[in-house]
Amino acid sequence: LSYVPGLENIPAAETYISTIDTDVGKIWIRGFSLEDLALQSTYEEVLYLLIHGTLPDFETLSSFRRNIYDEWHVPQEIWDIVNMLPRDIHPMDILRTAISALAGFDRELDDPSHEANIRKAVRLVAKTGFLVGNLENMAKGGIRVFSRDLSHAANILQAIIERPAQNWEARAFETAFILYVEHELAASTFASRVIASTMTDIYGAVCGAISALKGPLHGGANEKALEVFQYDVAGAERFVRERLAARERIMGFGHRVYRRGIDPRAQVMKDILAELCRRHGDDRLYRVAVRVEEIMAAEKGLYPNLDFYVAPVYKLLGIPVKLFTPIFAASRMAGWCAHVIEQQLANRLFRPRAIYRGARGSSYPSRN
Ligand code: ACO
Repeated sequence: LSYVPGLENIPAAETYISTIDTDVGKIWIRGFSLEDLALQSTYEEVLYLLIHGTLPDFETLSSFRRNIYDEWHVPQEIWDIVNMLPRDIHPMDILRTAISALAGFDRELDDPSHEANIRKAVRLVAKTGFLVGNLENMAKGGIRVFSRDLSHAANILQAIIERPAQNWEARAFETAFILYVEHELAASTFASRVIASTMTDIYGAVCGAISALKGPLHGGANEKALEVFQYDVAGAERFVRERLAARERIMGFGHRVYRRGIDPRAQVMKDILAELCRRHGDDRLYRVAVRVEEIMAAEKGLYPNLDFYVAPVYKLLGIPVKLFTPIFAASRMAGWCAHVIEQQLANRLFRPRAIYRGARGSSYPSRN
């Protein structure tokens, strides 16, 4: 047996959902480029593509959207549970608890059929978006209802910023939201597939994924990536050099799969950051980003991942930093569900082996 730490470059599943094609710098989602989807499609359409395998026609998409919107409702009992949690815990912990509790309200929880799994996936995506949009509002005592005249993503943004969003703001948010939707076997997705492989329910699998996403090496990085953007260019340069000298990580840089260049998703957000800076008439955040990118490439040979460019975009949209990772979860819920469904359609239990480094044959001490 040979051991590869972190399963680097080891295929751990066969999938028809997505792949990262580093040779051409593309992410393919069921055959379509994720960048194209992010710039031209809607989140609802990409959700359909992920869980059904094909793009919907116009009529199908309209009824699918109604289907999502019918599932926004979150029972009062869930808000009551959330209200019982300590006020100062991280919203990712609130979200994990809420999704876990929601399982108890799903009449189809233990129906393992493919059709029921698809219905549960739509339910989970809809309710997670509604919860994330309202996590902060709930603490302030008032939930904002979602509007059927707006997209799922625009509703989440408006609930968070507590004001109507301009079209360009909603589009920037939705682009980032689509870019987060699915990314092959990321740690959280792998976690969801491992859990699903015991043929447990989909809620349990995505709760594990939420826990994995919270970590600073994964989704939690988008919060930390914001740190560097509190400075001007010279300050950011100092900050980065000091961190590197102390052998600390700059969050939003590096990726297990993208070793030779920028994450293609980050490039899309970089262009959006440039546009938002133009609209705000202040290009400080863009100049900081470009300088940090140059330093990291020169000093470490590392390139930005999606989180690095999403952080300043969210900042310009007025999104509170502690909601950065929950928004990631609200989007990725679609990818997790697609993987859980795929895993359970052709399941084999994940049960790898470990290389044992411990002792053998120790004699148990006599107790008398
Ligand atoms: N800043 C500084 N140095 C770094 C960084 C970073 N962000 N990332 C990796 N390195 C260094 C490591 O210290 C290591 O150096 P060494 O060989 O001198 O010890 C080398 O690069 C290789 O790093 P590994 O940790 O082995 O790379 P790995 O593939 O395991 O890690 C990871 C990938 C976890 C993403 C890493 O690059 C990292 O911690 N980045 C910061 C967190 C982050 O941005 N995560 C978001 C991931 S993308 C997403 O979730 C959307």
